[in-house]
Amino acid sequence: VVHHTPSPTAHALLQAVLDGAGDPSIEGVEVVSRPALVAGTLDVLEADGYVLATPANFGYMSGALKHFFDTVYYPCLGSTTGRPYGFLVHGNDDTAGASRAVTKIATGLGWRLVHQPVELVGPAVSDALSAGAELGATLAARLAFEAE
Ligand SMILES: Cc1cc2nc3c(=O)[nH]c(=O)nc-3n(C[C@H](O)[C@H](O)[C@H](O)COP(=O)(O)O)c2cc1C
Repeated sequence: VVHHTPSPTAHALLQAVLDGAGDPSIEGVEVVSRPALVAGTLDVLEADGYVLATPANFGYMSGALKHFFDTVYYPCLGSTTGRPYGFLVHGNDDTAGASRAVTKIATGLGWRLVHQPVELVGPAVSDALSAGAELGATLAARLAFEAE
């Protein structure tokens, strides 16, 4: 889970993703969470799948998540092809540009989208938290299934 969580709302959504991914009914999956400014090439190479979480900033993903992609893209290109991923964008009113940008770069890496993009606006109410948890659980369950 690579995230930029600059506010209580973003943090709550991240926690929902982590709770979903760590659902005790999903066995054999280790969940590793890294802030986008800390995550690096080794983290990406060692993971079997990815959840990305970013705010929408100026119609794009956050600078922190962009920095993550700038750092890992070429070192990981060709080595992570086909790995499953999903992502969450949170904004005030317009998440489309950020969603498009994440999709474009992940597609360039050859990652496989296994959950529809989770685009959320407003407070971390229960529907939003459920969507985050479902994203995390879907990725973890997919990894558990594919490891069988
Ligand atoms: C510099 C900056 C630019 C932003 N640009 C957008 C934007 O283009 N679209 C959008 O929906 N929200 C935008 N936002 C809102 C953030 O996405 C939002 O603050 C973030 O998801 C955290 O949510 P919260 O403020 O409700 O806690 C922006 C926020 C900042 C600080």
